[in-house]
Amino acid sequence: MKRYEKFADEIAGLIRSGVLAPGEKVPSVRHASRTYRVSPSTVFQAYYLLEDRGLIVARARSGYFVREHAQRPLHEPETARSQAQTTEVDVSELVFSVLDSLKDPDTVPFGSAFPSPALFPLPRLARSMAQSVRDMSPQAVITDMTAGNPNLRRQIALRYMISGVQLPMEELVISNGALEALNLCLQCVTAPGDLVAIEAPAFYATLQVLERLKLKAVEIPVHPRDGIDLEVLASRLAELPIKACWFMSSLQNPLGASMSEAKKQALYRLLKQHQVPLIEDDVYAELYFGTQPPKPVKSFDDDGLVMHCGSFSKCLAPGYRVGWVAGGRYAEAIQRLKLMTTISPSVPAQAALADYLQHGGYDRHLRKLRHALEAQQGSMLASAARHFPSSTRVTHPAGGYFLWFEFPATVDSLRLFRLALAQGISLAPGPIFSATRRFENCARLNYGHPWTAQSEQAMALLGRLIASF
Ligand SMILES: Cc1ncc(COP(=O)(O)O)c(C=O)c1O
Repeated sequence: MKRYEKFADEIAGLIRSGVLAPGEKVPSVRHASRTYRVSPSTVFQAYYLLEDRGLIVARARSGYFVREHAQRPLHEPETARSQAQTTEVDVSELVFSVLDSLKDPDTVPFGSAFPSPALFPLPRLARSMAQSVRDMSPQAVITDMTAGNPNLRRQIALRYMISGVQLPMEELVISNGALEALNLCLQCVTAPGDLVAIEAPAFYATLQVLERLKLKAVEIPVHPRDGIDLEVLASRLAELPIKACWFMSSLQNPLGASMSEAKKQALYRLLKQHQVPLIEDDVYAELYFGTQPPKPVKSFDDDGLVMHCGSFSKCLAPGYRVGWVAGGRYAEAIQRLKLMTTISPSVPAQAALADYLQHGGYDRHLRKLRHALEAQQGSMLASAARHFPSSTRVTHPAGGYFLWFEFPATVDSLRLFRLALAQGISLAPGPIFSATRRFENCARLNYGHPWTAQSEQAMALLGRLIASF
């Protein structure tokens, strides 16, 4: 990390913790340079970066100020209560009815699972697609159908290496998006009727996969800031024959929680002690707001117990359907299962991504995307503080593009969903994120689209609907 990035992160920390309040002047360049013993140009670079991230604004001849929305005016939700039971999962109908509602392009897409396509370098990707298909050897159509395009696997392994994870290329299996990888991992280590530990709340597709494979859920509560409750997990592992865990250790969907490195390490130790495999869903890994990528649990895996799943769907190429899994000791079994089902993701799409990763300026794109998302998060938080009841609680994730709202207890989010949809606004209601249909007064809202007057009006309307319960 460069000096100015580290300094920018320190100031961002002061803003988020409220030491530097909204509207307050940040230290002048001269003052900051003297106090923190950094050069004036380092301070300038850091302030430009913070401006780009939507945390401060420059005022002519007065200096830099914390943006009005940069602090969290609404409180954070509390961790869900732990439930002792194991649960048969039956949420698919509900999830499909919500997903169906997202198809209308005129709907304000707060319920969407994707960021705006306008944030992706699609023309540059198209050039990579054209170039790589022109250069493709006819033989590649056959050879790349096994574990995947070798250049793409090498590029992915290089990215792991940069983020501190040493990974042999043989561990990597390219899949049709992360969702296929997650399905295959689970099939690899479970049989119908087995118990799987999942998060509460959890990404709704997790619930659907368990339902399809006839697996039972053991819900582990997630703290909105630092992830699953390890104590609850430890006692469930001690008392139940759990066959696998499916967790997101960074930027969890829907809460945005990220475990500390120490907690990830403790989680790994616990799972290793019980020899329970971890399916680590890390599809938002590239969308962190600071300057340091969070390390996955996979980085502590010295026993091949972690299957780490990633994807390009959320940060580069939605619709290309290319993801992967670093499968640890299960890589070969996953590969074989894939050959028995879909064989391979599209060979041209893999070649296009390999070309883009090598020549397309991926890191530059990611920096821009992260800054845009961080600024949009600020806009949605500020708007919620303006329009939602003051007892509303909201997460404040350090990345991704979702906020999780906990409304007053009287709000029925499924009814809110129907009322909002009738007014052209989608949202993801809380019960679709739970095997036991909890979180009735909660909803996930997407801020992955450029903030406009229409977004602001939609928040105001939602605020009125919420207040009417
Ligand atoms: C948490 C999580 N895991 C996995 C996926 C699926 O990713 P992909 O589109 O690469 O299959 C999603 C997409 O919504 C997601 O939010």
